[in-house]
Amino acid sequence: MLLFRLLIAGLALVPLGLLVRGVLQGALGPDPGEVVTESLGLAAFQLLLATLAMTPLRRITGWPGWLRVRRQLGLFCFFYASLHLLAFLQFVVGWQDLTASFTKRPYILAGLVAFIILLPLALTSTRGMMRRLGKRWKRLHSGVYLAAVAAWVHFLWQARGDIGEMLAYGVILAVLLGLRLWWSAAVQKRLARPDRA
Ligand code: HEM
Repeated sequence: MLLFRLLIAGLALVPLGLLVRGVLQGALGPDPGEVVTESLGLAAFQLLLATLAMTPLRRITGWPGWLRVRRQLGLFCFFYASLHLLAFLQFVVGWQDLTASFTKRPYILAGLVAFIILLPLALTSTRGMMRRLGKRWKRLHSGVYLAAVAAWVHFLWQARGDIGEMLAYGVILAVLLGLRLWWSAAVQKRLARPDRA
């Protein structure tokens, strides 16, 4: 399991490694700040999808190992989202008049919404918080679905031309959320069967 966790951590750090290499080699083009901001945002979104993929993978393959790396993936998503926000402030808008910066465009507001939902999830991701919050933990963490939709809207909305990539990610997100709805409907149906009454 340790090896699998290390593999996941190594893979999750690839986008950061590529960015650092790009910066050191001066290979990020004429607007490195924009490339850094975009790459960090994309990594955050990809890791959010990877986090959401763990439960379906567990159900489909039956292997419990997927669930053991879910928290790690979620925290890596938050790590990249935080760097993305910092890069936005440092390279895109600057640190003055934050209210104006966040409300400048609706897509930025959608990103902020996703970030604000992710923040308490990251802060309460420990076993201790899980125990302390009990049933409320699950309810709170189901906010991840809303965060994913807000992040996708943000991704789609910021597109300047071709939206093919955003739509492809949208299909993946729809499948990941759709599977959950389908499975939970199946459970409800089973519970509602007269022979279970
Ligand atoms: C306060 C929160 C956020 C702000 C202010 C923000 C801001 C931005 C900005 C300005 C861009 C466009 C970058 C450019 O064209 O130079 C962008 C793109 C993007 N952001 Fe965010 N964002 C936020 C949160 C998030 C979160 C939470 C996610 C995902 C979990 C995310 C994912 C993305 C993605 C996928 C892109 C497109 C990257 C690409 O074009 O490849 N953002 N964001």
